[in-house]
Amino acid sequence: MLETRDLTKVYDDTILAVNKLNLKVDPGEIYVILGANGAGKSTTIALLLNFIDPTSGTAFINEIEIPKFPLEAKKHLAYVSENVELYGNFTARQNLDFFAKLGGRKKVSRDELDATLGRVGLPEESFKRRVKTFSKGMRQRLGIAIAIIKRAEAVLLDEPTSGLDPKGGAEFLELLRQLKDEGKAIFMSTHDIFRAKAIADRVGIMAEGNLVRELTHEEIAEENLEELYLRYVAGYEQAEEAA
Ligand SMILES: Nc1ncnc2c1ncn2[C@@H]1O[C@H](COP(=O)(O)OP(=O)(O)OP(=O)(O)O)[C@@H](O)[C@H]1O
Ligand SMILES: [Mg+2]
Repeated sequence: MLETRDLTKVYDDTILAVNKLNLKVDPGEIYVILGANGAGKSTTIALLLNFIDPTSGTAFINEIEIPKFPLEAKKHLAYVSENVELYGNFTARQNLDFFAKLGGRKKVSRDELDATLGRVGLPEESFKRRVKTFSKGMRQRLGIAIAIIKRAEAVLLDEPTSGLDPKGGAEFLELLRQLKDEGKAIFMSTHDIFRAKAIADRVGIMAEGNLVRELTHEEIAEENLEELYLRYVAGYEQAEEAA
């Protein structure tokens, strides 16, 4: 469903942020990408959303080549973040309606809008509040509501649980599990190894733009993910220094 082929990004002709990345996320799968600061996680997500163009290589959503058909591709993708793409002066309901239409939905009833906002756990009093008054967790929930109403097949999240309180973080993961059960492909970055282990079907470890290890569901359960992560990230740095 979501796939990268030798996806590469070089910033300013010098910084190799993502190096020939090949990965796939299937429907009903949660793929979690781990990596140190600067490993290339956000760049990967920005490439998948066509916020930036790849230097070489490409990516697909449902066979649609994202850099070539960005508008079509975006109908199938949803991006959940605390501040990008929400209109602060619009209410939650207006944002949801706007993005539903942008995502190709023709008519969305008020009932459906409100039911979706309720489903992601936003309190009713917030439906007609301007989004600029929302907390981080509320913005994230609205992002999930947009993904649901757009019927996006793939949902991309960049460190979605950072800064959420423990209860909010747990509820957020529960929402992601529901989306997965509906068959969506979910791709998220995090620094939270504990949560990665709790939710991931597959884990990728990135170091300096390279995907250095992928773990299956079974391996995630069996391995000490934290130790493995530290070994790969440290090992990669040592190997680089020796080279
Ligand atoms: N707009 C930009 N211009 C130039 N270099 C950039 C730009 N954005 C990111 N980089 C560089 O690309 C590399 C990868 O950055 P990226 O933000 O993708 O990492 P990350 O894995 O998301 O890190 P973090 O965990 O800190 O969020 C880093 O070396 C970073 O300095
Ligand atoms: Mg980042």
